[in-house]
Amino acid sequence: MILVTAATGQLGKLTIKALLEAGTEPSRIIAGVRNPEKAQGLKALGVQVRPLDYSQPETIKSALQGVERLLLISGTNFGQRVQEHQNVIEAAKKADVKLLAYTSILNAGEMMLAGEHKGTEAVLKASGVPYVLLRNGWYNENYLSSIQQAAATGKVFGAAGEGRISSAARSEYAEAAAQVLLTDGHENQTYELGGSNNFTLAELAAEIAHQTGKEVSYHNLPAQEYEALLVQFGLPAGYAHALADSDTGIARGELFTERDDLTRLIGHATTPISETVRQALEVVPQS
Ligand SMILES: NC(=O)c1ccc[n+]([C@@H]2O[C@H](COP(=O)([O-])OP(=O)(O)OC[C@H]3O[C@@H](n4cnc5c(N)ncnc54)[C@H](OP(=O)(O)O)[C@@H]3O)[C@@H](O)[C@H]2O)c1
Repeated sequence: MILVTAATGQLGKLTIKALLEAGTEPSRIIAGVRNPEKAQGLKALGVQVRPLDYSQPETIKSALQGVERLLLISGTNFGQRVQEHQNVIEAAKKADVKLLAYTSILNAGEMMLAGEHKGTEAVLKASGVPYVLLRNGWYNENYLSSIQQAAATGKVFGAAGEGRISSAARSEYAEAAAQVLLTDGHENQTYELGGSNNFTLAELAAEIAHQTGKEVSYHNLPAQEYEALLVQFGLPAGYAHALADSDTGIARGELFTERDDLTRLIGHATTPISETVRQALEVVPQS
């Protein structure tokens, strides 16, 4: 039995889809969900749905019954995540899970968002549970709204300087996770998962200009100014801070990789950002 946590989330759903597309019997797949009311679509796929909330250890214990392989998708309760993930790791140890794959962050560097991933990685390594670290890079989809905004305003804002971003489509990280769950030989491996292409934010602006035929330029701001701008755009303060801090990590090269772990796992090249620009512009009427 294979269990995917956070299965009502975007990456969770895509991983279950990838497991099914690879020919896995639906009855072998368990979707661990925090809110079963959101799981109608998963039930319709024929997979088992079990309640699993990282902050409620009793739900984790019952969800893990009979599970051999587990994908722990990092949660969203910032500040609580190491403890929450530890609850899952401890339950997996007691349940004698044979492989626990954890979605960490590319390079596990110094950016704020990497802190809880590094904390979880340390807990996992110390636990003795056979593990795989899926250090996911940025999703291409993170840029959808910036692309649409840039098409309207002619401006891409950020604090990432000349830093290169090795992003890939979210579905490609899901394919990699499914591959690791379905094949052998991944125990105690750390995969640095980044796209086969990479770009700077200035290059992203140039691609948007190319596809829209409009002038689009990149405006690199000091992190604090970028954070203030994001708040002005309506983002919650904590989120704006994390995004601006992530950009400073990008500037240091923390979301760039030359490794081809992702393409080797999924067996094909990843989606270039130009394709994501095309998709983002498709839903915005061009004047
Ligand atoms: N690589 C990147 O670019 C990137 C970008 C954003 C986030 N991330 C990280 O990658 C994860 C997966 O990405 P995503 O796109 O699938 O995010 P998402 O669509 O926001 O899904 C997050 C999922 O985590 C679940 N969750 C949160 N706290 C939980 C808890 N205490 N117990 C059980 N489930 C919990 C949520 O449950 P509900 O459905 O009940 O809300 C949701 O299903 C995120 O959670 C985040 O840690 C990565």
